[in-house]
Amino acid sequence: MIYLNGKFMPIEEACIPVLDRGFIFGDGVYEVIPVYSRKPFRLAEHLDRLQHSLDGIRLKNPFGNDEWSHLLEQIITKNDGEDQYIYLHITRGVAKRDHAFPQVPPTIFIMSNPLLPPPAELLRSGASAITAIDNRWIRCDVKAISLLPNVLLRQMAVDVQAIETILIRDGFLTEGAASNIFVFKNKMLLAPPKSHLMLPGITYDVILELATANQIAHEVREISEAEIRTANEILLTSSTKEIMPITKLDGETVGTGKPGDMFTQLHTLYQQYKATHMRGNASH
Ligand code: PDD
Repeated sequence: MIYLNGKFMPIEEACIPVLDRGFIFGDGVYEVIPVYSRKPFRLAEHLDRLQHSLDGIRLKNPFGNDEWSHLLEQIITKNDGEDQYIYLHITRGVAKRDHAFPQVPPTIFIMSNPLLPPPAELLRSGASAITAIDNRWIRCDVKAISLLPNVLLRQMAVDVQAIETILIRDGFLTEGAASNIFVFKNKMLLAPPKSHLMLPGITYDVILELATANQIAHEVREISEAEIRTANEILLTSSTKEIMPITKLDGETVGTGKPGDMFTQLHTLYQQYKATHMRGNASH
């Protein structure tokens, strides 16, 4: 069951007009929110980021946080699975094709699908990634539905059986095509600083909080391409993949070629944090 513009319905019945600005211009924003034990994870943070994205495209938030929360609760109840991921999408609505903003109601779409953890085998062996020049626009902090560059960049990885494309802009790491990237080098966990050049990941924040809370030495600073290529470990994070080890980059072995201790420690901490959330004791 999905939600579209005020109604719940089976996805097969959901239709939008061809003049929707999401279809015509990619004019909209979205969120992906993980749900564990039927409870949205870090909901307040996802709703804050949604507000930031809406502000970034000058679209009014159609709901307050309580209304969003209530809607998401309903979507979760109407769908199968204790663990789900919600996809929430708002466009500037339906209007005669014209670049200028129309005065029409937005299109609001929400769906939820079962959330499966990354395959255990991939966590044991590690995954491959490739690198590419980050050729996206310079408002990557906005979670915009116009994802053509991300789609093309991710496909480059898929074409060579890798799981992600790690993006480099002007010689420095930004993020993955649909994930954030951390580097572990010389006993230091490194994260690129948030800016207009990357999406402020919710999982990225959780990892940095866990690092602080557990006295893991870390620095948030620019990471050069050379540092990525000589890393002891590379870690990928996202709401749907949680945390994953990258053990091959552009066909070269990363560190020992096996998931390292930093991955194992952070993965364990992340699972513990999730468990706290499920029991309802997490601070978020
Ligand atoms: N993508 N950077 C980009 C470009 C992303 O698309 C994503 C997530 C992230 C990680 O953010 P978070 O930890 O909040 O999921 C970083 C989602 C999962 C997607 O588009 O499906």
